[in-house]
Formats: sequence, C-alpha cells, structure tokens
Amino acid sequence: MKQRWHILGAGSIGCLWACNLVSMGYPVTLLLRNPEKLDIFNSTGAITLAEKRYSVSAELTDTSTDIDQLLITTKSTDTATALQSIKKRLSKSVKVIVLQNGLGSQEWVKDQLPNAEVAWASTTDGVWTKTPFNLVHAGQGITRIGSPITAYAWLAPLENGFLKVEQDEDIALTLWRKLAINCAINPLTAVYQCKNGELINNPDYLATMAAVCKEVELVAESEGIELFDGPLIEQACHVAELTAENYSSMMQDIQHQRITEISHITGYLCERAKQNRLHTPTNDHYLRKIKKLHESIKTSAH
Ligand code: PAF
Repeated sequence: MKQRWHILGAGSIGCLWACNLVSMGYPVTLLLRNPEKLDIFNSTGAITLAEKRYSVSAELTDTSTDIDQLLITTKSTDTATALQSIKKRLSKSVKVIVLQNGLGSQEWVKDQLPNAEVAWASTTDGVWTKTPFNLVHAGQGITRIGSPITAYAWLAPLENGFLKVEQDEDIALTLWRKLAINCAINPLTAVYQCKNGELINNPDYLATMAAVCKEVELVAESEGIELFDGPLIEQACHVAELTAENYSSMMQDIQHQRITEISHITGYLCERAKQNRLHTPTNDHYLRKIKKLHESIKTSAH
C-alpha cells in the first residue's frame, strides 16, 4: 500500500494534484480548515475532473492522525496559519512539497520543520473550479519539482501520473524566473485593472514594466541568479503577449476583493533588495499601492 498524501490547501491546484496522486494509486486526504467546506465535500465524497470521479477523503485540520507526506498548495500568504493548524500532526521525518507561487514561504517551511525533507515545486497547469470539488483542467502545463539542497529519491515516482511532472535540479532558479515574470506583470495589471496584453500596448505601462524588470534583474544578479539569456523585459513582453487576453491572478484577486500574494512576489524582491543594499523604487511603489488596496479590502470586509 502506497503511503498517504495529505493536501493542505484544497483549492483548484490542490484538488488537481489530489486527482493526479489518486491516479497513481496513492490514498489522499484533503485537510480542510472549515466544517462548512467539509460538509460540502461530504455531500459529493469525491473530486470530479473531466466528468471522472476521484475518490479522496477529507478531514478537518484539527484531527489527530499522523501526517507522513504533505503537499502544501495554499496561497503563499496563508502558509503560516495553515501549517500551524497541523504542525503537531506531522511525523518527525515528514516529506513535504511546497507547491506555491512566489518565494519566501518555501524556506520558511524548512525553518519551521528542520527534520523534514522539504521539496519545492512550481506549475504552469491551468485549472479552475466549476462548482466545489468539480474541476476543469483548462491548460496542460508542467510541474517542476526539486529541492535546492539534495535530490530526494521519493520525488521520482511522482512523474507517473496524468500530469506532466519533471524533476528540476535548479528549482530555485525556476521559482525565481516565475517570480521575475510575476513582478513584471501582476502588480501593474492589478493596479490598472487591465488584461496582460494591455501592458505591451500602452507605452506608459510598457515603460513602467521595463523599469520594474531592470530592478528585478539587479536584485537577481546580487543573489547570484542569472535569470534568462536575454533581458527580462523581453521575456515579460513575450508572456504578456502569449497571455494577452488573460487577467493575471493578482488582477483577479483585487477585482474579487481578495488579499493578493504580493508579499511573496514583489515583497520578497524588495526585501532581498534591502538586504543587498539595492534601490528598487518602482517595485517599492507598486508594493505600497497593492498593500493600500489590501487595507481597503480588509476595511470593507468588516
Ligand atoms: O500570475 C499569473 O496570472 C501568471 O503567472 C502570469 C504569467 C502573470 C500570466 O497571467
């Protein structure tokens, strides 16, 4: 019998991965934080993906059974609260995969769990939730998995599901590249409430995006990260063009009055800049702007 995976963060990506793990024969349990969500899950008892039902179980985080394998797919901003809610259930040598956007939370998890084997992952899969626990896999992408410390043998079998999964010997670089593109596109689209494509069609937005990219390159360089072969602005424009009709995740978060992942994207970048005594005025500006938007979201929620 394969060892059970627990999934912390039962959003679209977490549920997609639950199905993928079930397809490989792993028993899977979703860890839910609120009883209402558990009631909704229990009324269906499975996750549906492309009309196919995948049998998983679900339980509240404050259940007492041990957790030996944990996949974290919460928003990076929810990591601390989520991990705290299950920390006492984790076995000593727990295996953990952090599959999240941004940077910072991966190292934080490792600091919290010094005995754990912690791997990092990044995905380009596109998935959305039609109704609770009923998913649409809208874009087949790749999930890259690796550890910046050592190659864990237990990651290799995860390539055998229906999702495309690759071992990544430089997962930190992969996450940095994603962070760089997200710094270039997400805050601007969120502040100006526009589609990704507008960033390349509006000369003012484009000039701002170029300024953001220059600062990101400086910080990456100071961290010993060589981002892309060409300039970041070229990559960012390429992604904005490919996704011209899309609304970025951060734009959608602001539109739906949700707290964004800015603290683990631009926030992480500005923090690294500070540590390296570099100036990032354009990124600082958009970090402040999004934080201000968070304040008004929090106020209107009360
Ligand atoms: O965060 C997002 O929405 C995406 O990573 C990206 C690349 C900005 C495209 O929309």
